[in-house]
Amino acid sequence: MIPPKQVQEILDAVRIEEVVEEFVTLRKRGVNLIGLCPFHGEKTPSFNVNPTRNIFKCFGCGKGGDAITFLKEHENLTYVDALRWLARKYSIDIQEVERTPEQVAELQLADSLYIVNDFALQHFQEQLFNTDEGKSVALAYFKQRGLREETIRTFGLGYAPEQRDLLVRRAKATGHSQDMIKKVGLSSQDGSRDFFRGRVMFAIHNLSGKVAAFAGRTMSSDKTIPKYINSPETEIYVKNKILYGAFQAKKAIRQLDECILVEGYMDVISLHQAGIENVVASSGTSLTEGQLQLIKRNTNNLKIIYDGDPAGVKAALRGLDLALEQDMNVKICLLPDGHDPDSYVRDLGGEEFVKFVSANAKDFILFKTHLLLAETQGDPIKKAGLVKDIVASIAKIPDPIKRSVYLKECSSLLDVSEQVLVSESNKLITGTIKKREEKTARQPGAASDSPDVSPDPNFPVAEPEFGAPVREKNMSRGDEFQERDIVRMLVQYGNQILEKENISVAEYILADIEDSLGNFDNPLYGKVASLCHDVLVKGGTFDQNYFLQHDAQEIRDLAVDLLSAPWELSPNWVERWNYPLQNQPMPDLNFDTDMKQALDRFKLRKIQKMCEINLGRIKTASDSGDVDTLIRYMKIQQKLTETRNEIAKRGGTVVMPK
Ligand code: CTP
Ligand code: MN
Repeated sequence: MIPPKQVQEILDAVRIEEVVEEFVTLRKRGVNLIGLCPFHGEKTPSFNVNPTRNIFKCFGCGKGGDAITFLKEHENLTYVDALRWLARKYSIDIQEVERTPEQVAELQLADSLYIVNDFALQHFQEQLFNTDEGKSVALAYFKQRGLREETIRTFGLGYAPEQRDLLVRRAKATGHSQDMIKKVGLSSQDGSRDFFRGRVMFAIHNLSGKVAAFAGRTMSSDKTIPKYINSPETEIYVKNKILYGAFQAKKAIRQLDECILVEGYMDVISLHQAGIENVVASSGTSLTEGQLQLIKRNTNNLKIIYDGDPAGVKAALRGLDLALEQDMNVKICLLPDGHDPDSYVRDLGGEEFVKFVSANAKDFILFKTHLLLAETQGDPIKKAGLVKDIVASIAKIPDPIKRSVYLKECSSLLDVSEQVLVSESNKLITGTIKKREEKTARQPGAASDSPDVSPDPNFPVAEPEFGAPVREKNMSRGDEFQERDIVRMLVQYGNQILEKENISVAEYILADIEDSLGNFDNPLYGKVASLCHDVLVKGGTFDQNYFLQHDAQEIRDLAVDLLSAPWELSPNWVERWNYPLQNQPMPDLNFDTDMKQALDRFKLRKIQKMCEINLGRIKTASDSGDVDTLIRYMKIQQKLTETRNEIAKRGGTVVMPK
């Protein structure tokens, strides 16, 4: 473990541009540096490095962060390894503090397992390439299946001859621990026999290219022998977290911003050899959440290629709602009967195969709808079930625009009115939100999400009932731009001192909007504002690094976004409020005005909303003839309007009273 003091020392030394330049050619543009993004293929540079803020951001693919993030993403390092990398670069001598004995044991175990697997890989390769039997039996088998030698090496293929204990004996002779051989599953439990015998071997790599396990395929077509046998799960081989081929595919997946998923080892290898390198396999099972996360880290676009068998396809569809939940775009492509990706790419060649796939890949939801529809022909009960099934999938999609497009499409496919589908989907979504809220409410200390609004003490509206409709209105997400502006101020200038007031920007802002903290439309922005508030209340301070290095990924990402965008305003701000746009070339130097205007805009929006709600109340009271209540709300309205105009005047804006 690296002691915290040294972590800080490393972070202080890091210059983002110096780190990035080790991998990307950068040139100057203004105060920033730009280059071709290493995370996605591009011809015109949209990859920005900001030395002042010590962050990078690609405006093409959206990736961004500090030097640590860069190394984690680009070099696939862990946080700690990224720190070590930086320490080496900046010649900082880290004195790692002692690990606990358990940690040491765990690491040593993993290391020993990898060492043994490495030995086994060499052994299997040697048997394949350098023995007569290997060459005539196994190498011939691979070649007959169309594999070139280069491919065989890239994927770590090998051969385990039909001998009782060849590997075990050689391991012993070269001083490998028998315990480890057993543990990693290369020998029988009593350690006397080899586990893989008479099979061609496939190394299964983890994401950083270490051999985590093996699969052995029989070369016999005898159906009573299992075609593949696999290493058992171990500390270094957790099946549902490994995707076959991910190590060899990683770079292409990023560059093409797409991942192709197939079923088998041979499919991955064949496609790769044909130049289609962004391929991984789920190894015959349906996709797990852990595997999905591996993919999601590199791309949002998943294309699944299945062999035609309908039963298999249906089983595979089940796992895919998971992908929708993660807002991934999922497409499915079926191959002609009797073909799998391996046989088909050998028939067509890489280029034609790619063409076939792009012409035949169907959107997952529409695919599922078609498939199930064909099954329910003329059976209304089955069809009702199908509608529910499809809507359940659609309701998982977080993006409302995408959702509504699907609902429209499926309405015509299923011949069910769009309105019915929409309301069905809304029911599911509300159900999920409720469940989530109940869960949050049950967790202690989660009160900041409380829907109750405590209104500004300046307004004579102390009734808690005022809160409820605001919550309803939240669905419109109307104030996000103003809220984002406030959060931007906090992240960007939070610790700057305002000369006149002699307090920090954060203190100024948070004192001003304290009462609206529970009333943000955007939960993330609200969370950050409340977080800042909590830090200040506890007497702490924060600067941009506090956010850039925050534990929560969403907060780190937001900080990068906010610090990268030069200047943001609501797109309809000018029309709506006729607010003078201050197009300051250097907003950094102008944070005082910048901030106060952002605050005004924020408050204006909140007041505007209260006005709308209050108008509704006036109408209800007036309809029911409740004069006392009517008068009270009229007074409130007057006060709200005054305040609104006051703020608007400050900004030179004339607001027409409603
Ligand atoms: N599989 C397995 N055990 C089996 C059969 C299959 O683990 N007895 C897994 C393997 O990961 C295999 C995948 O399921 O790659 C798909 O099976 P299949 O299509 O039969 O294998 P292929 O990789 O296509 O192998 P081949 O082309 O050599 O038959
Ligand atoms: Mn096959």
